[in-house]
Amino acid sequence: MQTKRVAVITGAGGGIGLAVCRRLAKDGFFVVVTDVTRERAATVADELVSAGYDALAVALDVCQDEAEVTSVFADIFQRTGRIDLLVNNAGGSAQLIDKRTDFVQSEESTWQFVFNLNLLGTMRCVRAVLGYMMAAGYGRIINTASIAGRCGLPGWADYSAAKAGIIGFTRTLAMEVGQCGITVNSISPGLIERMRPGEDGKLPQDCQRKTTHGNWLGHTGTPQDVAALIAFLASEEAGYITGEDFLIDGGRALGPTSQAGRQDLFKTQDGENKL
Ligand SMILES: NC(=O)c1ccc[n+]([C@@H]2O[C@H](COP(=O)([O-])OP(=O)(O)OC[C@H]3O[C@@H](n4cnc5c(N)ncnc54)[C@H](O)[C@@H]3O)[C@@H](O)[C@H]2O)c1
Repeated sequence: MQTKRVAVITGAGGGIGLAVCRRLAKDGFFVVVTDVTRERAATVADELVSAGYDALAVALDVCQDEAEVTSVFADIFQRTGRIDLLVNNAGGSAQLIDKRTDFVQSEESTWQFVFNLNLLGTMRCVRAVLGYMMAAGYGRIINTASIAGRCGLPGWADYSAAKAGIIGFTRTLAMEVGQCGITVNSISPGLIERMRPGEDGKLPQDCQRKTTHGNWLGHTGTPQDVAALIAFLASEEAGYITGEDFLIDGGRALGPTSQAGRQDLFKTQDGENKL
């Protein structure tokens, strides 16, 4: 059995998942890097092992049948002897299949794709680890929602609904398993920089924030910012936090921003100030 705490991260072959793997490895976890693309998971695990950390690559498609997902987790448990932390990071919108539109033009098959990847994928992985966590009397589950699930996002109705579903699922699950020593929380990122492997398959380095007028901080977030929040929720210090959704969005959910400054926020076209 592993002496280190074991973390399983889904969709970890790039983007936020990659940053989470790097951070959790530094924080002393044995990191199980899973991704639908085996090669991507292997590249991340190889990087961690080369840097002296403990990691294992496993192919996991969260959209498979529950029985198949369950058997992947059974295999992980057999190899590690424990699963302390599950980070449900795999997710994405209809953009992945070139079908993102306003709801009026959308198709039911696209809603099913988005729900399957985000909400059902999360639920499958959770059920696959719960038995191990309950038997151990300890567990941390961190689900990935989105600001779209909190505030809405035009053109992303199915994704918003699936992510809002993750927030509701997180709350109820936290109530059901709290007495087993398991905490369940979700995170809702706003605009986060993309961090994808290059054409040559090489992993990207940590990326930088960019200027935006879409939130009150005036810059985007990075995968490392999100990884820091997840690392905190996974830490012992967060042991009294459960059933909560954490926005990480530069203040975007506070309301509309104005390039021209605060004074103009409530002015009409004729310049009248409404407050
Ligand atoms: N980037 C953002 O601005 C942002 C904002 C809000 C929420 N999110 C959420 O954060 C999570 C990660 O986003 P990202 O931007 O890093 O995405 P990304 O597309 O960069 O990476 C997603 C990873 O998931 C993998 N993946 C895709 N389908 C999968 C499947 N069926 N099973 C397992 N793995 C699969 C991909 O291979 C890829 O490695 C997602 O849940 C996303 O919805 C992202």
